[in-house]
Amino acid sequence: MIELKGKPVAEKIYESLSQQIKNWSTRKWDAPHLAVILVGDDAASSVYVSHKQIACEKLGFKSSLIKLPTTTTARQLSEKINELNAALDVDAILLQLPLPAHLDAYEMTNLIAVHKDADGLTVGAMGELMAGKSIVNSCTPSGIIEILKHYQFSLAGQNALVIGRSQIVGLPLFHLLNKENATVTLAHSKTSDLSQLIQNFEFVFVAIGKKHFFRASEFKKNAVVVDVGIHRTENGLVGDVDSAGAESHLKALTPVPGGVGPMTIAMLMKNTFFLAEKNRKS
Ligand code: GUN
Repeated sequence: MIELKGKPVAEKIYESLSQQIKNWSTRKWDAPHLAVILVGDDAASSVYVSHKQIACEKLGFKSSLIKLPTTTTARQLSEKINELNAALDVDAILLQLPLPAHLDAYEMTNLIAVHKDADGLTVGAMGELMAGKSIVNSCTPSGIIEILKHYQFSLAGQNALVIGRSQIVGLPLFHLLNKENATVTLAHSKTSDLSQLIQNFEFVFVAIGKKHFFRASEFKKNAVVVDVGIHRTENGLVGDVDSAGAESHLKALTPVPGGVGPMTIAMLMKNTFFLAEKNRKS
């Protein structure tokens, strides 16, 4: 079985971005600037955000962290987003999710100007994706496509099953797989007889958000399985798929941790660079 590790793929992206940014100093362009908004004190979000800042630093990008208290109102947050939309030196904006319960993630995310949407989550960016036109895509799904390409799996003409229809993973992944010419089925919590269904697919993308929901042996023999789940347990991080028995049954599987995870920030950096370059050229 091939272990679809994300780290070498992420490294390749960082390497390519480091090369590309070298040209910027000769053009006297300012470094790409990512602004991250963090509302509240969710511990996991704070860790993710610090990793995003470290990645910016390593690449020589500028990053700003706007930390707002849990009590921030929708009006205050929208004012901050509008300010960043208007700021000439900000290329890309990311509103870290989840937000505190009183703030609507859909509504707030959609205040971000499409040309500054670092993780492709605004309806404008999603609409472009549906039309097959987008270049900035949601980070986790586009990272998954990069992993498969790196390990030389071609999706064209393949039967692919996406399990989970979240705005952040399942839905954009469905469209990206379609763009790769896979024949895509989207399953979700209301799908009947999922364990029967998964046996028909060569490629399965599991983003169901439930710890060890599937056993590796439940998939079709020689399937390629991408596990997007990440759950903290006493024994460390685990995914939506229990990898026991995968070695002899699957053709390939993303490990957790170390599979899809490292790709998310790499794709965020790629998106930030892309938006910044477009901004410099416009
Ligand atoms: N929270 C967890 N992952 C993400 C992500 O990719 N983007 C945003 N905005 N919030 C997240």
